[in-house]
Amino acid sequence: MLDKDEILKENIRIPNHLAIIMDGNGRWATQFNKSRSFGHYEGMKRVIDIVKASSDIGIKYLSLYAFSTENWKRPLEEVSYLMDLILVFLNKQIKHLHENNVKLNILGILNQLPPKQIKKIEEALKLTENNTGLILNIALNYGSKDEIFRAVKKMINDVWIGAIDKDSITEELFYNQLDTGNMPDVDLLIRPGGEKRLSNFMLVQNAYSEIIFTDVLWPDFSEKKLIQCLEEYTLRERRFGGL
Ligand code: IPE
Ligand code: IPE
Ligand code: MG
Repeated sequence: MLDKDEILKENIRIPNHLAIIMDGNGRWATQFNKSRSFGHYEGMKRVIDIVKASSDIGIKYLSLYAFSTENWKRPLEEVSYLMDLILVFLNKQIKHLHENNVKLNILGILNQLPPKQIKKIEEALKLTENNTGLILNIALNYGSKDEIFRAVKKMINDVWIGAIDKDSITEELFYNQLDTGNMPDVDLLIRPGGEKRLSNFMLVQNAYSEIIFTDVLWPDFSEKKLIQCLEEYTLRERRFGGL
């Protein structure tokens, strides 16, 4: 059990915005000769653990990469299972998340998901919309290139219909059109699973984040591992281009 006071006592720096690319579910399952689905199910359980841990230690924003715009390329059977898991996760967890004051938010295009999933997610968004605790961004059908493209297109359209003047387009305005709206940038990005790439995840928001790549596969990721990452993050010197 994580104790926020203990962590503060040990001088661990808590990121305001933590992002995680939850990778390695398939390989985790394959090593036990199990189906990739089994790995995804176990991965879902880690989501529950890490959301709780993040909330306990006072992280304000947690962004989890759950399904990319490129993941539709996977076999239909795997995609269907992942879609089912969205329902399983929300059916099991939404009440609990709500009780813990977590506010759910989706990054990505919701309306391309199957109708049942859209309905369930919309209910969850509505239920938690006034919560003031951890803001949980789930990136679902999310791709950063797509997000940037949509933001640019929206601004062009707004100029075209006269909603905004072209001279009023600022960096801040562009930024606020992203799926993260006015949320702060990511401070720490963790990628379990051994790959050392961003895979189209929050490219703008990670402009100055500290990045930790770890070989631990996502289903093996734990609160303990999270704390180790925070310890490493604490030692990083962030300069933002300054001296
Ligand atoms: C991450 O695990 C989950 C999703 C991308 C949905 P993977 O399914 O990518 O697992 P590996 O990388 O093949 O092991
Ligand atoms: C990134 O993992 C996407 C998610 C974790 C949802 P992938 O497994 O899809 O990434 P690549 O294909 O190895 O880059
Ligand atoms: Mg992968």
